[in-house]
Amino acid sequence: MGCGRMVVPRRIEQTMSIAVARHYADHLATLQARTATALERGGFDHLVVPSGTLHVQVFDDRDYPYAANPQFKHWLPLTRNPGSWVVATPGERPRLVYLQPRDYWHVVPDAPSGYWVDHFDIVVIRKPEEALQHLPKNASRCAILGEPQSALGQYGAFKPNNPQAVIDYLDYHRAYKTPYEVGMIHEATRRGVRAHRAAERAFRAGASEFGIHLAYCQAAGQDATELPYGNIVALNEHGAVLHYTELGRLPPKPVRSFLIDAGASHGGYACDITRTYAADGNDEFQALVDAVDKVQREDISQRFRAGSDYRQVHLFAHLALANVLRDFGILKASPEAAVATGVSSAFFPHGIGHGIGLQVHDVAGFAASDSGGTIAKPDGHPYLRLTRVLEPGMVVTNEPGVYFIDMLLEELKAKGHGDAVDWARIDAFRPYGGVRIEDELVITDGDPVNLTRDVYAESA
Ligand code: GLY
Ligand code: MN
Ligand code: MN
Repeated sequence: MGCGRMVVPRRIEQTMSIAVARHYADHLATLQARTATALERGGFDHLVVPSGTLHVQVFDDRDYPYAANPQFKHWLPLTRNPGSWVVATPGERPRLVYLQPRDYWHVVPDAPSGYWVDHFDIVVIRKPEEALQHLPKNASRCAILGEPQSALGQYGAFKPNNPQAVIDYLDYHRAYKTPYEVGMIHEATRRGVRAHRAAERAFRAGASEFGIHLAYCQAAGQDATELPYGNIVALNEHGAVLHYTELGRLPPKPVRSFLIDAGASHGGYACDITRTYAADGNDEFQALVDAVDKVQREDISQRFRAGSDYRQVHLFAHLALANVLRDFGILKASPEAAVATGVSSAFFPHGIGHGIGLQVHDVAGFAASDSGGTIAKPDGHPYLRLTRVLEPGMVVTNEPGVYFIDMLLEELKAKGHGDAVDWARIDAFRPYGGVRIEDELVITDGDPVNLTRDVYAESA
């Protein structure tokens, strides 16, 4: 992929339109077909999926923020409905048992509405336990996927059993997104890009990390509990903490750099985007950002193709980043030697990415097959989250980074690799923390589609 605006294949472009709903029927048909096979594998007749429950904090009467069961929101875009259930039985219309409680303390969910309702037989209940009478009679014939707290009936007789064979099958295939799902991630990305732009403006205006976070949430139209993960908003050295979520209340003086890794949600689907900026006048750091951005766009993304082993993509990214480090005089050893000896891992200590969808880090990243097994991570790369071969329909992130992390630099020295780097150059970059650039790519039969860059381009 060159650095110009990419040509988006027509089929994908359609999914990117606002008419995501048109793809919903096909999505449901895919889920029903997968469910039939999964049930056969496990020896069950029905798939039963509770949306989940509220969890009360220990020694308190407050709930934690509700998180919908991903297996539930795979079926329909409901993310604020604890106590509801989906029942899927091969050959029948799926059923939704929808909790609309009598409650004058809280806002009660609206009656079901939207593009998805015509596809379900819907039963409205007023109390969570009423669900039981609308679920299959014989729990032993059901694969029930959920948390233990969802159990219903006397002594929790109807309780999640989470059969491994069923989960293995469904999770493995969940890596292949339907056009509906690509459209949902795309919508989440639109929201995320809008918010990233607002965050950059807040940074340029001198806001604190907390202020940038608020600007982000405002533009996303989502608060922290609705976002798919805690916003990483890092000024200066904070960029060296991979998951920095402290949100400092005062801006540092001077402000030199800004790394933001933040997503947004749409109908239960996540986006995951990272950008890094230099404050005005910090030209050498800007050059490093540009160099990482260039290898991400032009070199690493080229490897995001059907048939590529993601482990090899990760190892290639190490080499590409080691070349950047060498160009900037940070690395004295050869890029190849830096990768072989683990020196590159001191600067790039996380994986090149992961699957994304209903969860920001999607399930089954290591699955060897739809009936179990694990694909090992490469030796020395414990944080890679995806080891599968890329195939059309997968949506994965491409997120190389270069950081100046004291702990890892000390380790590098302790292991006898101190001569492989130029410590004066490291000292020059330390105050900037690090660089990460992250996009989401759809794997196709040809060039990957970069959802993130596409949204930036369409709204430039
Ligand atoms: N935002 C977490 C990650 O990029 O994986
Ligand atoms: Mn990510
Ligand atoms: Mn991220």
